[in-house]
Amino acid sequence: MLFDFANLPPRERYKLLVSTITPRPIAWVVSQDAAGTLNAAPFSFFNAFAGDPPVIGVGVSSHEPGRPKDTRRNIRETKQFVVNLVSEDAAVAMNVTAIEFEAGIDELAEAQLKTLPSVHVKPPRIAISPVAMECELLQIVELGRDTGLVLGRVLAMHIHDEMVLDAAQNYIDTPKLKIIGRMHGTGWYARTSDLFEMNRILRANWTLRENEDKQPK
Ligand SMILES: Cc1cc2nc3c(=O)[nH]c(=O)nc-3n(C[C@H](O)[C@H](O)[C@H](O)COP(=O)(O)O)c2cc1C
Repeated sequence: MLFDFANLPPRERYKLLVSTITPRPIAWVVSQDAAGTLNAAPFSFFNAFAGDPPVIGVGVSSHEPGRPKDTRRNIRETKQFVVNLVSEDAAVAMNVTAIEFEAGIDELAEAQLKTLPSVHVKPPRIAISPVAMECELLQIVELGRDTGLVLGRVLAMHIHDEMVLDAAQNYIDTPKLKIIGRMHGTGWYARTSDLFEMNRILRANWTLRENEDKQPK
């Protein structure tokens, strides 16, 4: 079936994107305004875009036309933020921070979340998150009047000690992080525990017939 975006209103285009591009990792962003007021909110239009320089991107829209979400306004103002990743045990608290509270309400306090200080940036990190990335703003790519792609350079990463297999080699126990991803609709999420392994094939080892029946089981 063809869904031609030229004939669809924004809400329907959004539904098609988020119900197919799955699972999406979640950036649980802590930011502050110039006065130091803390803010936390989750964003699943999120990914890493480069290793060198280490760049992540987050798509942040507006509460209503002309009123950008606090996260985008804060990052534009102070140019710093922390991206925390969401583990299974933090899912409920993450969902609380997505409530569209009135300005001035501290989402971290509402969700009873403890924070820890960052090293390079002012906004703190969320203690329960197994991974937290301190970021400085690289650029906001304006995607129309009411959405911006916030590109951040990662300055440092905090990882819970028990998730580090070998600190000297930067080996992390990725399955142990139990990171969740966002699926379709407003309420579906995925665990990252159903894995399969498939190694890269060297050009010298490639013959079509030998690889025909190698679908993951
Ligand atoms: C799992 C999850 C993912 C979300 N992803 C996005 C997103 O990618 N972009 C966006 O603008 N809002 C997203 N939202 C909605 C925001 O979290 C919500 O509007 C929040 O109140 C914004 O807070 P702020 O105004 O403090 O920045 C998401 C909500 C949830 C629960």
